[in-house]
Amino acid sequence: MINFGGRKSPFLEGLGIVLRTHTCGELRIGDVGKEVTVSGWVDSRRDHGGLIFIDLRDRYGITQIVIEPDQAAAFEIAQTLRSEFVIGATGKVSPRGEGLENPKHATGKIEVEAAKIELFNKSKVPPFEPGSSTLPNEELRLKYRYIDLRRPQLQKAMILRHKMTKAVRDYFDQQEFLEIETPMLGKSTPEGARDYLVPSRVHPGQFYALPQSPQLYKQLLMMAGFDRYMQIARCFRDEDLRADRQPEFTQIDVEMAFVEQEDILRTIDGLMAHLFKEIRGEELPLPLTRLTHRESLERFGNDKPDLRFGMELQDLGEIVKDSTFGVFKDTIASGGRVRGLCAKAAADKYSRKGIDELTEFVKIYGAKGLAFFKMKDGKLESSITKFFTDDQLNEIISKFGAENGDLILCVADSSKVTSAALAALRNRLGKELNLYKPTDMKVAWVLEFPLFGWNEEEQKWDAEHHPFCDPVKEDLPYLKTDPGRVRAQSYDLVCNGYEAASGSVRIHNPEVQQQVFDFIGVTPEVAQDRFGFLLEALAHGAPPHAGIALGLDRWVMMFLGNDNIREVIAFPKTQKAADQMTGAPSDVDTKQLRDLHIKTDMPKP
Ligand code: AMO
Ligand code: AMP
Repeated sequence: MINFGGRKSPFLEGLGIVLRTHTCGELRIGDVGKEVTVSGWVDSRRDHGGLIFIDLRDRYGITQIVIEPDQAAAFEIAQTLRSEFVIGATGKVSPRGEGLENPKHATGKIEVEAAKIELFNKSKVPPFEPGSSTLPNEELRLKYRYIDLRRPQLQKAMILRHKMTKAVRDYFDQQEFLEIETPMLGKSTPEGARDYLVPSRVHPGQFYALPQSPQLYKQLLMMAGFDRYMQIARCFRDEDLRADRQPEFTQIDVEMAFVEQEDILRTIDGLMAHLFKEIRGEELPLPLTRLTHRESLERFGNDKPDLRFGMELQDLGEIVKDSTFGVFKDTIASGGRVRGLCAKAAADKYSRKGIDELTEFVKIYGAKGLAFFKMKDGKLESSITKFFTDDQLNEIISKFGAENGDLILCVADSSKVTSAALAALRNRLGKELNLYKPTDMKVAWVLEFPLFGWNEEEQKWDAEHHPFCDPVKEDLPYLKTDPGRVRAQSYDLVCNGYEAASGSVRIHNPEVQQQVFDFIGVTPEVAQDRFGFLLEALAHGAPPHAGIALGLDRWVMMFLGNDNIREVIAFPKTQKAADQMTGAPSDVDTKQLRDLHIKTDMPKP
């Protein structure tokens, strides 16, 4: 288990210590009588008529310093101290008086009686106090991130992130993986987002692209013979941001040669078990649960199900197709579906008004309405029961295994809309009804994604993941007849409703690669121009290979039980991809632009 404070600090030993002998999280009752120096930030100062108490804070913890008036020089300085001043305090460790112990701090049984205080630096009045339990608004926190980062919660997040990164490296190192760095200034890799471009001074008018992922380089490393590669890799994507998305983020990037899908799944199963052990002190039962993409959509409505709770979707088509309820009957008759879920013991929690709110909510996802039944005295109650026979109602009850007090909610629409609406509804109800503990973690594989997805806007097929995924062999014939049916040898790792990793077996045959490019409308000329180097490498001895990338930031978030990615990144960007602290992005000198042969053409406000 991770220990976030109170750790011994052997690094301080034998350093010819002047500025500190111990950290602020270290001293215990056994240290009483020792002469020590601790240094840090003034978390708070209390004046107790004569006595001054300072809570001194560093990343290891908080130690109480007490200054008595008869220590005149120290006392004089102590009187001037304010929040966030940086000081060193030297004195004797003594036990706190009876009833004065503070169980909130690991150092709560002792205090340091200061004989000397050294003021290293003052601080302006801070915009907010890191020690305060009320959180200032995020804009202010990001502007003064260095103060925000002093908050114990963020220190905990950074420590956890470090431990996880180290555990990841250790795991792969034990298995003969090599960490190899790949370029930041490179050629665009299509991962579906816009590129961040970097202009070249030496090649006027030409641009590098910051990597959306090291995808092509890691494949090239397989062709170069480095059969086990990993990298903690920074990726850049210019896309709409969300709570779980940043424009620059970090992947645990992995690629292996001479392997099949199963090898990747087992390797990552092992990584998960290692992380659960190192970080949570838990045994993770292996192998991890596996679902097909199709099964996931059927049971949960999406491809990143939150498996911390059940409440699975059911199809009512067969039961309600012959009812007299027009909405259901007509939907089925026109090839649509009627699906629903059953919220246990929730009937009393949602009044008419509550259900209206849920109805508005599912409309966001395209549903036209939300039908409901409440189970009472062994029967379903609803304004629409009159449209169903008793047999049909009983079949609905047994489909869901409904019991008194349960609430059944149904949507009639296309397969796509029923999935989207009910998946969102399921997540919302899971949270509202407290169906899981925020600290629970449920990890599973989703397999066999479709290779292509229909792009409605451009009326063409696109690669669902990226165009280097190997198709499932027996599905290849459908490429011509039913492209939506071609499955990829691809896999996502999902956790708590997040897509937490994604990967695939790669195409290692240049003809298949060209076939896939052709199909998604990448002509041989374009393919040559953009991926010529890859096609060339595939033709120079490419081993079978496969890989995956895990979103490190998302994993840290989940291990921390947080749902804001900005809480696990030291210097994150805002929703508008800006850095509040430094002011990036910003204007540059005209000279810099001139060197790059760049003129700006601003949109009219
Ligand atoms: P993919 O694009 O699915 O795959 O990315 C892999 C994982 O990275 C995380 N992720 C993000 N995290 C934070 N902010 C973002 N903007 C962001 N985008 C993605 C997710 C995701 O599952 N080259 C392939 C991997 C491969 O095939 O090996 C790739 O990048 O957790
Ligand atoms: P109406 O006949 O439009 O008054 O609808 C009766 C009930 O059916 C209301 O609770 C609606 O929310 C619900 N309803 C209407 N359209 C749908 C739909 N497509 N799927 C599920 N329920 C619906």
